[in-house]
Formats: sequence, structure tokens, C-alpha cells
Amino acid sequence: MIRQIPPEHVKLGMFICGFGGSWFDHPFWRTRFVIASHDDLEKVHAADVPYVIIDESRGAKHEGAASDAAPAAARPPAIPAPAPRHCRRVPVPPPDRSGALAQSIARQRRRQVQQMVGQARQTMRGLFDDARMGRAVRVADTHQLVDDIAQAVANSPRTVLDIVRLKSKDEYTFAHSVAVCTLMINVATFLGLSEAETRDYGQAGLLHDLGKIGIPQDVLNKPDMLTREEFAVVRDHPEHGFRLLQASGDVCATALDVCRHHHERQDGNGYPLGLAAHQISRAAALGAICDCYDALTSDRIYKQAWSPPQALAAMWSWEGHFDRDLLFTFMQSIGVFPPGMVVRLRSNRLALVQPGRRQDTGPHVTAFFCTREREALPPQDMLLDDTNPLDSIVGHACPHEWGVPQWQQLRLRLWRGAVDALPA
Ligand SMILES: [Fe+2]
Ligand SMILES: [Fe+2]
Repeated sequence: MIRQIPPEHVKLGMFICGFGGSWFDHPFWRTRFVIASHDDLEKVHAADVPYVIIDESRGAKHEGAASDAAPAAARPPAIPAPAPRHCRRVPVPPPDRSGALAQSIARQRRRQVQQMVGQARQTMRGLFDDARMGRAVRVADTHQLVDDIAQAVANSPRTVLDIVRLKSKDEYTFAHSVAVCTLMINVATFLGLSEAETRDYGQAGLLHDLGKIGIPQDVLNKPDMLTREEFAVVRDHPEHGFRLLQASGDVCATALDVCRHHHERQDGNGYPLGLAAHQISRAAALGAICDCYDALTSDRIYKQAWSPPQALAAMWSWEGHFDRDLLFTFMQSIGVFPPGMVVRLRSNRLALVQPGRRQDTGPHVTAFFCTREREALPPQDMLLDDTNPLDSIVGHACPHEWGVPQWQQLRLRLWRGAVDALPA
């Protein structure tokens, strides 16, 4: 049974599934977890929230007064503020989330995400170290981590995706694992996969490169061409990781699949098995995309990071590497598209993606063709962000297939940003 109880009634072993009031008033990033330590218990007791929601089917029951035992649904929506504990509460300004308060909340959220990502990288460092020392890989350590990242993605995907992209060169392997996990969770959420499948995608992202512990650092960071022997070691890392995870005995099938197959290619020229497109699962194909995107957008010892649009433009141009529909789905999930791509809009128009500007909060496109009437339209420049909820990118398109007249000339004119100068 789900119950709302005062924070001071929370006991060890209870399963928390929500907090009353604002997330700003309690120190937990997660909102679904068991109170397993005195430390967490003290934090809940000290939290400045009007009530806590517990799930008695997943943890200890509440032994409180009868008035507390009513199901949550039967309770009035607003619970009066508890008395003395809240006397220390600073008067809260009206719920105006604009201006200074909104900025303060955004900063606080960013700090929380940075802290969580830092902890996740530490956990992954420990896991890689264990594997390197020949100790059993404790896959169970990743479960909470995946839940934390999934929660962060659900709350503020843009902030999380921004933060996981920033990584120093010396922590690359661990930071890359956390970043690929985040991208996998993000795309799984976009696809509407179940909670369990999304968690499996996240675990797959975290563990996909475990086999890299078998590659010497100087080979991993080598800026020049690899020798035949070095390349053979690199090509073995998916199989090596697969064997390590299999031996751990506690890993989901998706993580095994993605670990072994994230370097396979749609044209059969990937490794280690050279699978054909139809033999590569959706999870592994998405793993390959998330993996490559994060590698391209990261600083390495031997190269500077590419911008997200640059990385996606390159990936889109590589024939035979990736499943193009899934690559497009990935772009939709992160809200970034390569400049020059022609897309189909929800408003039954074709549009050209323009280079982004620093201040843009979504893709900048120029609509130029009506797909319903199959006729050219006066070009219209627009930003597809939250301020434009009626339109969005729903697919990629080939102008020739739609019969766009004189496409090459039109493309040049649209691309040069001369939209205002075009005749209506
Ligand atoms: Fe890899
Ligand atoms: Fe990777």
C-alpha cells in the first residue's frame, strides 16, 4: 500500500517512492529507494518536506497512528505543514520560477547532476580496477547507478547530456561509460521502452567497454596508425568484455549483446564477428551509435572534441556504418541534427537544417516545400524549440523523392541564409 507519512515517521527499511513539496527541499537525487543507512534516515528526518510517500509492498510498513494509515489517494491533496520542525523554514517566495529563483534552482540541479555523475565515474573506476586486478566484476554495483542516471535523465535530460559530455582526458574510459549509459537511457526513453528495458540499456552502456582493460594505455591513446598486432588487441575488446561479464553471472542479456556487438557495422565490415545488418539487434545498433557519438564529441589526448552537429554530420555521411533510421532516432532523442540535412516536419513540410547559433534552444530550420500539395513554399526560417510546440522534426527526407524542383539551386540559396532575400 502507498502511504503518505510525516518525514519523522520514516524508519530503516522503508521504501521511499516520493517526497511532498519541492525537490529543492530534500537532499536526495533519487525519489525511489530503500532507506538502508542511518545516514539516509537522518537526511529524511531533517528534510524540509511536508510528507514522504512510502510503498509498503516494497519495504517496511508504517506503524504510525490511524490517521496516517489512510491510502494516499484518499487523502486531501494538500497536507497542512507540520508544526515545530518547520519553524526554521525560511519564508518561501511565491511560486514564480522565473528570474533569480529559477536560476538558483537550475544551478542547484546542475550541482546535483555533477555530483551524481562524479560518483558514477568513481564507481566505474572501481569496477574497471577490479576487472583489471582479476577480481570478480560486481555488476550489482551498477544497478543503483543506472537508476540514478535514469532519474536524472527523466528530470532534466539536457543538463545531464551536457554534463556527461564534459570529461578530462585521463578519466576518459570511466566517463565515456557513464556518458554512453546516459545516451542509451535517453534514447530508450525516447523510444518509449519499458522501465526494465531502459534499465538494461543503461547497464549495457555502462559495461560496453569493460574489455578495454585488456588494451595497454599507450595503445588506447596512440595518435598514430595502429600496427597489425595492436589493432588485433583492440579488436578483441568486445569479446574480452563479453567473457568478463559472462563470468560475473549477474548481467542482463542486453548488456552482453551490446558489449560483444557495439563495433559491428551494418555493411558487415565491423568486428569481432562481421555480422550482417539483420543479425545486429536494435540495442547493439544503438550502442554503436551512442558509443561513436560520445567518442567523437570528447577530447582525447590525440584529438579535440567535435561539436555535436559536426559529429552527427560525419556519422550520417559514413555509408554502411550505422542503421540510418536508428541514427535519426538518436538525433531526435538528443534534439540535434546535422546542418544541411533535409527533414520532414509535423506540419507536412520539408525543411533544411541550418547551422545552429550559440543561443539556439532547438534545431534551426528553413521550411520550403509542402508535402501534401507537393509544391514549393515561400521559405520560412524557424526555431523548433519549446516556444514552437505545434511543429517538430518527424523524419529525414530526400528532396528528389518528393519531386522538389531545381533542388541543387534551391539548396544553395536556402543554405546561404538568404531566406529574407528570396521572393515570396
Ligand atoms: Fe568499444
Ligand atoms: Fe566505447
